[in-house]
Amino acid sequence: MNKPTFYITTPIYYSSGKLHIGHTYCSVAADVMARYKRMRGFDVMFLTGTDEHGMKVEKSAKAAGVTPKEFVDEILLGEGGILDLWKLMNISYDRFIRTTDDYHIKSIQKIFRTLYDKGDIYKSVYKGLYCTPCEAFWTENQLIDGNCPDCGRSVENAEEEAYFFRQSKYADRISELIGDYLEPITRVNEMVNNFLKPGLEDICVSRTTFSWGVPVDFDPGHVVYVWVDALSNYITALGYDNDKYHDFDKYWPCDVHFVGKEIVRLHSILWQAMLLALDLPLPKKVFGTGWLLFDGDKIGKSRGNVIDPIILAERYGVDALRFFLMREYIFGKDGNFTNEILITRINSDLANDLGNLVSRTVSMVEKYFGGTLPGERTSGEYDNELILMASNLHKVYEINMEKYAFQDALADILKVTSRANKYIDETSPWVLAKDDLKKPRLATVLYNLLEAIRICTVLLQPFMPDSCLEIFRQIGANEELSLYESTATFGLLPKEVTVVKGDIIFPRLDLEKELSMLAEC
Ligand code: MSP
Repeated sequence: MNKPTFYITTPIYYSSGKLHIGHTYCSVAADVMARYKRMRGFDVMFLTGTDEHGMKVEKSAKAAGVTPKEFVDEILLGEGGILDLWKLMNISYDRFIRTTDDYHIKSIQKIFRTLYDKGDIYKSVYKGLYCTPCEAFWTENQLIDGNCPDCGRSVENAEEEAYFFRQSKYADRISELIGDYLEPITRVNEMVNNFLKPGLEDICVSRTTFSWGVPVDFDPGHVVYVWVDALSNYITALGYDNDKYHDFDKYWPCDVHFVGKEIVRLHSILWQAMLLALDLPLPKKVFGTGWLLFDGDKIGKSRGNVIDPIILAERYGVDALRFFLMREYIFGKDGNFTNEILITRINSDLANDLGNLVSRTVSMVEKYFGGTLPGERTSGEYDNELILMASNLHKVYEINMEKYAFQDALADILKVTSRANKYIDETSPWVLAKDDLKKPRLATVLYNLLEAIRICTVLLQPFMPDSCLEIFRQIGANEELSLYESTATFGLLPKEVTVVKGDIIFPRLDLEKELSMLAEC
């Protein structure tokens, strides 16, 4: 039988500079979701890539004395570049698209021509504020103190011939549907009130002021507007209008596009208008994520507050960073990032709670039973509460994961690990160990702890894949016991399970020391 499919995308990242922790946040979330769906038996297509055209790239390349292609190649493939970052962060994408890929360029040209032939793209005159030295048009809102936002010089009214897309034609249909596909609801209200109710205008979809873009093949001198080029990646990467891939029918419509809140408008209005114009089904979901803020300001290169995920992942571990991003922030809302919040969270949840639970439990099995539990059991007080919590955990987890409530999914897992830590205090294994007659009870306590750890670890896999493998190894769980289905049953580890003591998985961090170290990076 064919597996159900799940198609998930991140935005394609601009190839204009290094990526920071904010970009990493979006990719980690998509990766968690992709891994979760794979674990649930889905045939997943996880797409990411790079957005490599546009005036900004053209200018940056010029400033660096290289061609635009050389420039984007370095950003992507160079040391510490985008591919290195995704490899380090364990981002398990299935396909990677570059908008400079030949097949994509040809598809964009076909899409542009189809829309032109249909009358949804037409030629008219673009009027705007023009900066001559930068050769760029700006809107009133983009100006800084009335001047060009790039060079600060004055701008003047100017006009040029350009192609327009009939976005306005699809306004009613989008207004009807937006509530079905866009989340969270705050973004729906924003789109309706700020853009749909005031009325959608047609949008200029070609430029002549720079050349680093997809050429309009029937009108030399015009290049396709970067957002038409970029948004289409979600279908060209599946083989729409090209022969490079052949799984459009299999994966489209997309199950979910994860996109930052500042690009929700383009993903929930322009993209839908383009798809409607192409007679294609709309994505099932567009989820607008919040921003990571630094001192209340968006993290970003232009603000000079870039936080380097490579430094953090190398110092604290990829999994600790992935866990932190998903545990600390409500997906869909803004959240503040500081090094202190990061270190405090790693200490409280990973070192003190989960990590401590694993190392205490494994150590006690080693210490009291030489590493292998005996088969006799005696149940007792406190067992049922822990067993019930652990065996029901997957139910709430599933509900939260299906609605992208990653923070809640992790909070529920941590409730079980905290409960297990409390169970150790309540049952006092070190007291039981003193009395030989109580060995069966001691074995029961330790077994229950191992099982609670196992169930939590299965569900943590999408968040911290490598650490979970290490936990499974330490608690003696084989691959079968790491499957999602195994979380519904408490008691699957062999009765006479053998543990393997290993390194501390999440060492406790010295806050002061780490903060001063990071301040120097
Ligand atoms: N190239 C466009 C997307 C085209 S998709 C058809 C783009 N690229 S981007 O590199 O600027 O941003 C990519 C994603 O990273 C966006 O979803 C954006 O919101 C996200 N983030 C960038 N900075 C961020 C934070 N500080 N916090 C959270 N997400 C952030 O937009």
